[in-house]
Amino acid sequence: MEDKSILLIVGGGIAAYKCLELIRRLRERGVDVRVVMTKAAQQFITPLSVSALTNERVFTELFDLDDEREIGHIRLSRDADLILVAPATADLIAKMANGLANDLASSVLLASDKPPLIAPAMNPQMWLNPATQRNVHQLEADGARFVGPETGEMAERDEAGPGRLAEVPALIHAIEEMTASDRSTRARGSPGPLFDRHVVVTSGPTHEPIDPVRYIANRSSGKQGHAIAGAAAKAGARVTLITGPVNLPDPDGVKTIKVETAREMLAVTEQTLPADVAVFCAAVADWSVAEQGDQKIKKKKGKPPPALKLVANPDILKTIASRKKGRPELVIGFAAETENVLQHARMKLKRKGCDWIVANDVSTETGVMGGDSNSVHLIRTGRHESWPELSKEDVAATLVEEIARELASTKRTAANSKSIRAKVDKR
Ligand code: PMT
Repeated sequence: MEDKSILLIVGGGIAAYKCLELIRRLRERGVDVRVVMTKAAQQFITPLSVSALTNERVFTELFDLDDEREIGHIRLSRDADLILVAPATADLIAKMANGLANDLASSVLLASDKPPLIAPAMNPQMWLNPATQRNVHQLEADGARFVGPETGEMAERDEAGPGRLAEVPALIHAIEEMTASDRSTRARGSPGPLFDRHVVVTSGPTHEPIDPVRYIANRSSGKQGHAIAGAAAKAGARVTLITGPVNLPDPDGVKTIKVETAREMLAVTEQTLPADVAVFCAAVADWSVAEQGDQKIKKKKGKPPPALKLVANPDILKTIASRKKGRPELVIGFAAETENVLQHARMKLKRKGCDWIVANDVSTETGVMGGDSNSVHLIRTGRHESWPELSKEDVAATLVEEIARELASTKRTAANSKSIRAKVDKR
C-alpha cells in the first residue's frame, strides 16, 4: 500500500473514534491519508485530532473559498487511489445511493471516478431496514464494495446485531484487497466468467437459542459454503455470503453477513435479493425452541429436566425457490444425507423446487461435516453426475464452473430466441 493515497470520509457515529487508529495504522504503512469529515462526524471526533495524525488539514465545508481555490472537491475525489467511507451512516449511504450532493462528503463521492469502499456502522434495525438494504444493493450494483458491518453489541444499551463498524485490521485488509484487485483486474484484462453476476451463498450452521446461554446447533464448519463464496468471487461475481456462526475468516472479495438463527438467515437472504444465483449450503436447523427462556433455565432439585418443545423453522431454500417474483435464475440446494443419498436428494430437489441439488453423504465415517474434503453428486432434473472425492475448494471451483456454463448457455438460448423472434417479426 506504500505511496497509495486514501481519501477517508468520516460520517457521524460513535464508531468515528476508530478512524483515529485506522489513520495511524495506514500512515505506518506509508499511505497518504486525506480526510473529509461530515458535520455530524465532528460531534464525535475533532478535525484537530485528525489533522494531527494525517499531517494535513481536514476538509469539512463544501463552500470554503480557500479549499476551492487550493484544491476543490473534484480534485479531492480524483487525487485519491481509493475513497473509504467509515463509518458510513444510513444517511450517507442513502445519499450515495441516490446521488445527493448537498455537503462536501456527498459531493466528493458523487464527483468520484472510482467506486468507493464503504464501511457501514449504525443501529441493527437501521441496517436491516429495507430502505437501507435497497440502498446497499443499489450501491453494490453501481460497483461499490462493502466491508462489514460486523455483528455484536451496540453502544446503546441492550442493542445487539449487525451494525458495528468493521475492526481496523479488517478495514486495512479490505483497503489492501481493493487497491490490489484494481491492479490484478487491470493485469488480468479479463473480468471472469461470472462478471456482473450477483451470487448469494448461505453457509455454516444456525444456532437456535434455548435461553440466553444455551443453544441447539449442528456440526457444519462453513468450509464448503465459504469455499463456494470465495470461488464465485474469484470468477468475478459480486458475492453475498450469509453465514451462521463459524470459526473461519471472511473469504476475500466477498460481502459477508453474519447471522445466528434460521429466521435471521431467511430475513437477510430475502433482503440480499435480487441475485442471479443462490447456493444454499448452510446446515439450517429444522427446528427452533418454542418458548425460549428470557433467563438461564435453572435446575430444580427433585424435578425432572425441562422438556424442550420445538417448532419448525422456515425453509429458506424452499421459500426462495418458490418465489413468483425475484426468484434467482439458478437456485441450488444441498442435501446432507446419511443413507440412500441419491434417492433422498432427488426427492429434495422436487420438494424444495430448486434447479440443482448437490448431494453429500454426511455419515460420521465420511468426515464431511467439518472436514476438508467432500464427495458430491450434482443432481439436475433427469440426470446426475458423481464427482470423485475432492478438497472443498475444488468442489467449489467445479461447481462455479458448472454455474458459469449454465448461465452462459441460458444467455445464449435467450439471445437466440430473441434473434429468431426478430427474424420472424421482419418477415
Ligand atoms: O460446513 P461444512 O463442515 O463444510 O459441511 C458442509 C455441509 C455438509 C454442511 C454441506 O455440504 C451441506 O450438505 N449443506 C446442507 C446441509 C443441510 O442442511 O442439508 P438438508 O438436507 O438438511 O437441507 C436441504 C437444503 O435445504 C439445504 O440446501 C439447506 O441449506 C436447505 N434448508 C434446510 C432447512 C431449512 N430450514 N432451510 C433451508 O434452506
